[in-house]
Amino acid sequence: MDGNRAPDADIHMDRIRIRGGRPLHGRIAISGAKNAALPLMAAALLTDAPLRLGNLPHLADITTFANVLSQHGVSLHMDGADSAGASGRRLDLRAERIVNTCAPYELVRRMRASVLVLGPLLARSGYAEVSLPGGCAIGTRPVDLHLRGLEALGAEIELADGYIRAHAPDGLKGGEVVFPKVSVGATENLLMAATLAEGETRLVNAAREPEITDLAQCLNKMGARIAGIGTDTLTVRGVAGLHGADHDVIPDRIEAGTYAMAAAITDGEVELAGAEPAHLEAPLAVLADAGVSVERDGGLLRVRRGRSPLDAVALCTEPYPGFPTDLQAQIMALMTTARGQAQIAERIFENRFMHVPELHRMGAEIDVEGGTARVRGCTGLRGAPVMASDLRASAGLVLAGLAASGETVVNRVYHLDRGYERMEEKLAACGADVERLRGEG
Ligand code: EPZ
Repeated sequence: MDGNRAPDADIHMDRIRIRGGRPLHGRIAISGAKNAALPLMAAALLTDAPLRLGNLPHLADITTFANVLSQHGVSLHMDGADSAGASGRRLDLRAERIVNTCAPYELVRRMRASVLVLGPLLARSGYAEVSLPGGCAIGTRPVDLHLRGLEALGAEIELADGYIRAHAPDGLKGGEVVFPKVSVGATENLLMAATLAEGETRLVNAAREPEITDLAQCLNKMGARIAGIGTDTLTVRGVAGLHGADHDVIPDRIEAGTYAMAAAITDGEVELAGAEPAHLEAPLAVLADAGVSVERDGGLLRVRRGRSPLDAVALCTEPYPGFPTDLQAQIMALMTTARGQAQIAERIFENRFMHVPELHRMGAEIDVEGGTARVRGCTGLRGAPVMASDLRASAGLVLAGLAASGETVVNRVYHLDRGYERMEEKLAACGADVERLRGEG
């Protein structure tokens, strides 16, 4: 997730109840990627022409971000909301005029990804004011790389009253940005800003996540001139203006990885429809090491345990193409059922082990030292009430609940709803005994 605050009180604090021990069998359709959709939506701010996005997931974060964009003057029209169980929706966005260059605290605090409006607003309007996102359940998560990068393109930035105020009255100028650390969000902000800057920009040590590639490809469809797509050096030749485009969001690799692990943890067999295996090489290699069989069959990925029990693995999270931090909690849940001691090092976020104490409550044996967790497997998970702390931690707890004996209730499911489309329905359709309990959690 991209924030750690509870939604407003009018949103129910739903819980998910799982009675574990049932193998998953069936087919799961993979939705469009949240983390690709959000920057693509922000790209609409760069042009007065319509941007049409297809394969949009139906998620709370998408709605939140639509609200952020709409107060900047973007008109939005969602199509297909009720078809095929609300997946694969189309969204038409049009920022004919920017009516407001400020993203206020009330909106940004709900979702850190709102900072993605900074680059496009500044590039289009010469001014942007965005609330500093603040802390988050998974770490301090600064935005210094976004700000230093925009300064390299000639922006003047001041921080005052909890806000980032960025000016470029004569427009942005191309420049070289060498990121000292790989950042997905900073790469996206700079990529969008550079499309309208005067002259050439080079982004060095850029993030290479498939979501960045998706954004770059869409921007090029809009008339941007970006080269080096898929590599860690992106070169952007600025253009005077962008036009509209029609673009489909890539499938969600984290959702696909999560359900692959769900199949493995329950000793079931699941077909993932619409997943892109090329985006999943590192996690699929780890799963293969552990003894999970993944076969490609046309557009399907068939996942089942190849060995029982699975074997413990050692891994560390890294920027793409390494093992994603967004699958760390889920692989940890899986490793509680493997033979031996797994070692999981978190290298992206400083505080992304909030699921560990909750897994302890389910009987897992996990020691954390610094950024490394050691998981002693095959200790037998037992159902318990647990508390979700962030989006991916929640997914890890759901997987643990599917494998545990007895009943698990995952509280604070709003975290899960931010990034997984109808997770309980997709799992129940494969035979899981899982149910959403409405109300206070
Ligand atoms: C994106 O966050 C994703 N969010 C996250 O997914 C994902 O975990 C993360 O990338 C890493 O893959 C979206 O795409 C909306 P970063 P982002 O900038 O862009 C540090 C989920 O669960 N950093 O690549 O915010 C930062 O603190 C979410 O779906 C700076 O120091 O991540 C972290 O340690 C959670 N200064 C590292 O870089 C900066 O200015 C990588 O962060 C920016 C980042």
